[in-house]
Amino acid sequence: MTGTTVMGGREGQADTRWFTEARFGMFIHWGTYSAAARHEWVRSHEKMSWEEYRKYFEHFYPDLYDPEEWAELAKQAGMKYFVVTTKHHEGFCLWDTQYTEYKATRTPWGRDLLKPMVEAFRAAGLRVGFYYSLIDWHHPHFTVDRYHPQREEAGERAKNAGRDMRIYAAYMRNQVRELLTQFGQVDLMWYDFSYPGEDGKGRADWESEQLYALTRELQPQVLVNNRLDLPGVGDFVTPEQVQPTSALVDEEGKPVVWEACQTFSGSWGYYRDEYTWKSVRQLLWMLIDGVSKNGNLLLNVGPTARGEFDERARARLRGIGEWVRRHGRSIYGCGAAPQEFACPADCRLTYNAKARRLYVHILNWPVKHLWLEGEAYKQRVAYAQFLHDASEVQMKRPEAWQEAQMGKGRRAAVCLELPVLKPPVEIPVIELFLK
Ligand code: GLC
Repeated sequence: MTGTTVMGGREGQADTRWFTEARFGMFIHWGTYSAAARHEWVRSHEKMSWEEYRKYFEHFYPDLYDPEEWAELAKQAGMKYFVVTTKHHEGFCLWDTQYTEYKATRTPWGRDLLKPMVEAFRAAGLRVGFYYSLIDWHHPHFTVDRYHPQREEAGERAKNAGRDMRIYAAYMRNQVRELLTQFGQVDLMWYDFSYPGEDGKGRADWESEQLYALTRELQPQVLVNNRLDLPGVGDFVTPEQVQPTSALVDEEGKPVVWEACQTFSGSWGYYRDEYTWKSVRQLLWMLIDGVSKNGNLLLNVGPTARGEFDERARARLRGIGEWVRRHGRSIYGCGAAPQEFACPADCRLTYNAKARRLYVHILNWPVKHLWLEGEAYKQRVAYAQFLHDASEVQMKRPEAWQEAQMGKGRRAAVCLELPVLKPPVEIPVIELFLK
């Protein structure tokens, strides 16, 4: 046994059980682009040369960096793992890699930023994930392509003849070896990303097979995402900035493990002047909606160049944590409800198979009653309570006049008697104990 074929995962892939149990993680995008404070793609968007871009590296001084606090904020929000950009597309490395000078220890701050982060999050009980960018706009052998900052610079394209992606691919393996040997157990590797085709890059450029094999060899248990451009490889799929409309399945219709990655606003890196921040309620909806479709939520924070989560992020993490503290039971270890339980209007169902409990998340507060339709509810619901305060929600058989109101051919199996006022939580949840 190689250690990679384990129950719960697919053949040849890793065990995803901790991951689907966890459901909620923190993404962290942090690099020298945080100083530009206008998107982590700023160098590409603004087609900056190295001469223009280097100022962020030369001024990087995150003196307020407090990884214990970050870990505490993630934990309080209810997150169970984190994934940090060890290197993003700009190429800057948070750790003291021996393969480039473009790293945290060569900034004015002069210290490794990754090790203390890993230690702090691990100490807080969170699993450790590394994002590693396949794209690298700093490496001299990374060829200029359609996203490269220097794509329009005269002469840069011509230099591609002298650039050798094989050298770059070996560089990536060297760095991944560091990441997977110097930081203890790594639970998740998040490679980003492939864009094969004309003027793009894919598995042949990254030498993805070798990179994947190395990853597995060094840490057989590590979960790997699906962005290496290797068909069939990936322990989970990664919808980005979208909520899938139904549980995701593979070509054969079997459910796949997935994780939606989402931002608070439109950017992953700290963006000072971006104001389209989602509300706590929307963010909770994304978490709940994902779990109701068997998915995880990886919610991103872009710390500032001084090393802090800004107030907008803190407020949302607090708000989320406030809800999750009382409602974690409907999230952790939960997934889509069995099909026989029809989801009531304006609700989302999640289900904990081990505990045999069904959770009705009420997104829009109804007037006095919530009707559950179908035999399954009639036969199997033993007891109902609000999750936030464990107060009973009384169940009634609906009166004939009520059923008549529901429309032709529809029958409520159970009628839940609701208070007129919505309980004082962002999204109320009713916990149904099944027989
Ligand atoms: C993307 C972007 C990137 C971000 C990532 C997160 O593909 O290139 O900036 O890190 O998605 O999912």
